[in-house]
Amino acid sequence: MKNSTDYISQKIAPSGIKPDTGIILGSGLGGIADEIEGISIPYAGIPGFKTSTIQGHAGKLIVGKLCSKGIIAMQGRLHYYEGHSLREIVHPVRVMRLLGVKNLIVTNAAGGINRDFKPGDLMIIEDHINFTGNNPLIGQNIEELGVRFPDMSRAYSEELINAAEIAANKLKINIKKGVYAAVTGPSYETPAEVRMLRTLGADAVGMSTVPEVIAARHAGLDVLGISCISNMACGVLDKPLCHEEVIEITKGIENVFTALVKEILRGL
Ligand code: HPA
Repeated sequence: MKNSTDYISQKIAPSGIKPDTGIILGSGLGGIADEIEGISIPYAGIPGFKTSTIQGHAGKLIVGKLCSKGIIAMQGRLHYYEGHSLREIVHPVRVMRLLGVKNLIVTNAAGGINRDFKPGDLMIIEDHINFTGNNPLIGQNIEELGVRFPDMSRAYSEELINAAEIAANKLKINIKKGVYAAVTGPSYETPAEVRMLRTLGADAVGMSTVPEVIAARHAGLDVLGISCISNMACGVLDKPLCHEEVIEITKGIENVFTALVKEILRGL
């Protein structure tokens, strides 16, 4: 972690920027990074960072200012289904914390399970279900970051949820709220699995986010999660799923998403 943190600190030192908000940009949502005035650091050059292999995930850190806030954005994240360990996946979050970040905005594309949702909706994550069968904190605890058994009763900050709702109201976005269930992928769920997840209380399902949120809470960061409902989950509509459609729908609401995140930042 120190290697990565030192490398990034050195890169950003001349700019004088002190990032206090981290943003992880999900599939098709990377465009907001183009509005950040600052420095771009490819993961490939950062010691200790793994690179992402997925279409729609560019794989670089952008450090700079957006709405006069110091931001460090991940354009492209790592996924468990790529074969990375959860420790590797959460590494950038831990480095963000060591760089002084306090708030983390985590975003993703997700399948809508709640029948009141439709593709193109944005959902504030109120809570999550970790259905990956794994946890990024397994193994020796990193005492420097947090305790062995971190509390998850408020994984998503109530204050940040309120800020996001206020921002959405101001922009007249009909934002949804709900529970995000994380699965490993890469195959999409079966209709039976989606029915099970609905019964268990999930409103949306996706293949990311939860590991990063667990590590962020362990390290004491306040978290806001936003899902872009890119499709209805398998079996909700009578239609097969494909990644291209996920990207297409997400791209379609990228402007709304960008406006929302900027409005949230202004309110922080
Ligand atoms: N399931 C899991 N992950 C996803 C989905 C989905 O339907 N859509 C986007 N990411």
